[in-house]
Amino acid sequence: MNLKEMVGVEAARYVEDGMVVGLGTGTTAYYMIKEIGRRVKEEKLRILGVPTSFASKKQAESLGIPVKTIDQVKKVDLTIDGADEISADFQGIKGGGAALLFEKIVATYSDQVIWIVDGSKMVQKLGAFPLPVEVIPYGQQQIFQQFEKKGYHPVFRMISDTNKTVTDCGHSIIDLHLDVIEDPFALSDVLDHTVGVVEHGLFLNTVNTVIVGRETGVETISNIR
Ligand code: A5P
Repeated sequence: MNLKEMVGVEAARYVEDGMVVGLGTGTTAYYMIKEIGRRVKEEKLRILGVPTSFASKKQAESLGIPVKTIDQVKKVDLTIDGADEISADFQGIKGGGAALLFEKIVATYSDQVIWIVDGSKMVQKLGAFPLPVEVIPYGQQQIFQQFEKKGYHPVFRMISDTNKTVTDCGHSIIDLHLDVIEDPFALSDVLDHTVGVVEHGLFLNTVNTVIVGRETGVETISNIR
């Protein structure tokens, strides 16, 4: 088992019969969805999945996990998702897989959030991983120039030399190359108040439990908030 699979399988153990479960996105969440699918099939686990991307929806459906959208459920009991960076005070960057908008919406309406990562994602301060910012197409060059002026070192995420990445909602992603984010809350506030920004990858005061995969085994950090 690789580290991503180890934490994915471990996190799936937190899923209980009758739960509404937010299904994250990415290469680590993939293993969690796979394991939940196995439990649905072999253990007759009855859950409802709320996928955070079209890719996760497709995977869940292919495994026989019933799915609904966030608007078709009252709330989510537990969301399990990957992360790109987690700081020493358990703030996070997400969106490396371009699914940050749905991921943040689903996390917001979840009672509990578990992040599953390998040890390389645990850092002192956020920022070495480029911070994804999702923007609507109209006016995005203006936002880009504003970010340049602020010294955020923006780069449009591209799917090919000439085509920008398009999110599940038809938006673009601007990655900010910041190196170190000294005050994630202040930056989050700036981005939250930038017209045309739909969402950004700073997930602050979000996670309750982090499951970290290391060569020595799985470490679970609970009761974070
Ligand atoms: C998807 O948009 C992201 O937020 C992922 O959860 C994050 O990038 C972690 O992905 P991996 O598990 O593939 O590293």
